[in-house]
Amino acid sequence: MIKCISYKLTNKHMYQAKTFTIPELKGISKKSLDEHIKLYEGYVKHTNLILSKITEIGADETKAYELSEAQRRFGFEFDGMKNHELYFSAFEGGAQNLSEVVLKNAIEKEWGSFEAWFARFKTVAKTRGVGWAILYYDKSADKLLNAWVDEQHLGHLTGLTPVLALDMWEHSFVADYQPSGKPQYIEDFFANLNWTKIEENYNKAVN
Ligand SMILES: [Fe+2]
Repeated sequence: MIKCISYKLTNKHMYQAKTFTIPELKGISKKSLDEHIKLYEGYVKHTNLILSKITEIGADETKAYELSEAQRRFGFEFDGMKNHELYFSAFEGGAQNLSEVVLKNAIEKEWGSFEAWFARFKTVAKTRGVGWAILYYDKSADKLLNAWVDEQHLGHLTGLTPVLALDMWEHSFVADYQPSGKPQYIEDFFANLNWTKIEENYNKAVN
């Protein structure tokens, strides 16, 4: 007979919502940013709720369906939390240009020029549907990759580190730009971006 081992979920197992110090942004209003951060906090809350639910259900075989549904939804909430942390933190400290060193060299090595990568990434961001355009670093191949992630979690590249994440859900731009303003939102995202943060993400992923 298999003995079921249960454990109690405590605060140390829970995720805490982060706070972000974001200056005034070009194009993206404080009101929509505040609303967006509330959505992020919802992802943190639901990540913790699902973790609690999974623990509560435990090894009760009569609740296998509930457990598998909770487990299935976990990636959506967890990745929603993590994607948004990458997105908001990239605005902290205000807009800073990409420096002429490590990350720029890596982008040029991969795509030939920064401009070629930039055009490609913006095309990825315009993918129809809701999701994310993400620049990843693959340490195993010392390689950068662009990807589109549907919703929060469908299409993430296993084992790779996200370095830059652009939220392309309508909630991130419709209030300020209208649905037809998606291209301008993408331009303003990059105008507001603190590339120093992205370089830090890249350096952490490489080292
Ligand atoms: Fe979002």
